Amino acid sequence: MIVLGIETSCDETAAAIVTDAREIRADVVLSQLDDHTPYGGVVPEIAARAHLQHLDGLIRRAMAEAGVGFGDLDAVAATGGPGLIGGVIVGVMTAKAIAAARGLPFVAVNHLEGHALTARLTDDVAFPYLLLLVSGGHCQLLAVEGVGRYRRLGTTIDDAVGEAFDKTAKLLGLGYPGGPLVEKAAARATDPGRFALPRPMLGRPGCDFSFSGLKTAVRRHVEELGAPLSAADRDDLAAAFQATVAEVLADRCARAIRRFKEDHPQGGALVVAGGVAANTAIRSRLATLAAAERMPFVAPPLRLCTDNAAMIAWAGIERFRLGQSDPLNFAPRPRWPLDPTAAPVIGRAGVGSGVKA
Ligand code: KG4
Ligand code: ZN
Repeated sequence: MIVLGIETSCDETAAAIVTDAREIRADVVLSQLDDHTPYGGVVPEIAARAHLQHLDGLIRRAMAEAGVGFGDLDAVAATGGPGLIGGVIVGVMTAKAIAAARGLPFVAVNHLEGHALTARLTDDVAFPYLLLLVSGGHCQLLAVEGVGRYRRLGTTIDDAVGEAFDKTAKLLGLGYPGGPLVEKAAARATDPGRFALPRPMLGRPGCDFSFSGLKTAVRRHVEELGAPLSAADRDDLAAAFQATVAEVLADRCARAIRRFKEDHPQGGALVVAGGVAANTAIRSRLATLAAAERMPFVAPPLRLCTDNAAMIAWAGIERFRLGQSDPLNFAPRPRWPLDPTAAPVIGRAGVGSGVKA
């Protein structure tokens, strides 16, 4: 089975060709970073226009790299949400057009499911597994019990963890996108233990997260130190922030592992996914935790942690081989939670409900 995947839900335009033998034949990603950098964040209207401008060419490139024509495809999968709706519409309409013109099945993929199933594409991980999904729009712990079967064990009550990285980077004057820049600054720190930051939710019952207090603490330090920050102050603060996030994520995961093991005595892997999973310090902290818990630990390669279309093609394959596809009147969804039965979070409205991934 050969599937074309399309991803346009945020600021990456991407196309990929993947087979059901877990082979990524092509995986092209065009980052719109330069378009958004002057604004310090993603501008939805600019993103939608850029997707429109580049998507056709990227699909052509992916197909040429894979050496396949439209006649070789078995299905077309596109992110159907959640995400910035203008971009999602561009991807969905393009996929529908190809499907209609070529008489191919169309699969609308939940972007979060794309992240959630990546570990099955890269490492053939068996169900069930415990997933920490950490991205620019999400911070969730989910028991992944099958394709389309997710049980949310915890979520953030305020900021997503990637958002906290991005805001911290802004406070430290590091630029956008924040995650990789904070990681680089932290690696340069000469006194990483200099600042003690509050560790939100640490030791509290349940598996929910909170990051807004941490961000406020960073701001307070920045104000106390006074502008402009020296390079040493900036790097030490970045290190403190990153270490605190890693500690909090590990604490919440440890609790989720207990619940997961109660429900699934046969066990399962600990899997991390989403853009923040590209962070080496966080990966190694989680690997240590998994080893202590005697769980296999799976973190996809860095380029499959951040947004890409290979994960969308793969999630499309997973659904299509179970006999699932979508009608051509599928309506793109700005919100699309993975576990619709999970209670809404008491915190900022929208967060955790699938606004952005
Ligand atoms: O899943 P993703 O590529 O896109 C969406 O959220 O839609 O995640 C992007 C997020 C951004 O907040 C970015 O700052 C963060 O992932 N990120 C990182 C790293 N690389 C990307 N955060 C921490 N460390 C990194 N190395
Ligand atoms: Zn994402």
